[in-house]
Amino acid sequence: MNTTEPTFLTPTTDGIAQAAGLLRAGALVAFPTETVYGLGADARNGRAVAAIFEAKGRPSFNPLIVHVLDATHARRFCHWSDTAEKLASAFWPGPLSLVLPLTEGHGLSSLVTAGLSTVALRVPAHPTARALLSAFDGPVAAPSANPSGKISPTTAQHVSDGLGMRVGAILDDGPCRVGLESTIVGLDGPASLLRPGGLPAEEIERVLAQTLSRETEGKISAPGQLMSHYAPNGRVRLNAQRAHDGEVFLGFGEMTCDLNLSPSGDLTEAASVLFDCLHQLDATGSAIAVAPIPRQGLGAAINDRLQRAAAPRP
Ligand code: TXA
Ligand code: MG
Repeated sequence: MNTTEPTFLTPTTDGIAQAAGLLRAGALVAFPTETVYGLGADARNGRAVAAIFEAKGRPSFNPLIVHVLDATHARRFCHWSDTAEKLASAFWPGPLSLVLPLTEGHGLSSLVTAGLSTVALRVPAHPTARALLSAFDGPVAAPSANPSGKISPTTAQHVSDGLGMRVGAILDDGPCRVGLESTIVGLDGPASLLRPGGLPAEEIERVLAQTLSRETEGKISAPGQLMSHYAPNGRVRLNAQRAHDGEVFLGFGEMTCDLNLSPSGDLTEAASVLFDCLHQLDATGSAIAVAPIPRQGLGAAINDRLQRAAAPRP
């Protein structure tokens, strides 16, 4: 537990300038995106990037997503393609990360890419994330701002509770709208779904008029996809019809439960509150039973996160 709170910054011009200054100085800044809060560092500064791994206690073979303002900035770091152009025009800014081959002289720290020949690029939609990228005027490496393997943060308080003084400052702009990390699509070869996330795979397939390969889903090339992840302290039991003794019950749709992801059965609402509900139920110290969640649309990513939360711990 952390006994001291980090600095909270407000998303005013002044707060954004302070945050950009900290990034420039090689410090870590947590900031809101539409998916989850990110733990940001200058992606060109190896020491700053190393501090991310240290703060998260994350295995360093795990590559990070690089955040940029738009496709023009993204193209400086990668070999662009027609498919990349199609997806970027349709979904950027938004909850989609594209994995593309690195260019020569990209200037990114090799820690960001974990020494791979590809890089994951994302253009966030959140106005505060965009203001920060604009003020900083450079690429920002940012994983979710939580200790490795724990529940992702969708509020500034989650970040503070999890990382405390290990983060230089937190830009606080309320809860995240989407609530699930970005969908990751590999474009280093046939388009493939590397991680389901805040943009339903069906929407991507509609734009590409082709099915995404799912062979590499959960494997590394995406090493962050360790089986146990997003884990509360207590055990998690899925597809439960009701709570057993000693469990708290996370519901979906009309039912009796301790917390409900969406009483009306809306998957978008469920995604946006999923991590916050897990944080709240985890604070009770009880095991967590979770009602069945449909698998279509955002349900795929919700079920992916729940399965990892329920997986046996290393
Ligand atoms: O929504 C999000 O994407 C959030 C917010 C903060 O933007 N960020 C996020 O980053 O989830 P992170 O670092 O937790 O996710 C990184 C994951 C890696 O675990 C890996 O699965 C994948 O992105 N990744 C990164 N670079 C890759 C690469 N070159 N090849 C394949 N997968 C890569
Ligand atoms: Mg994460």
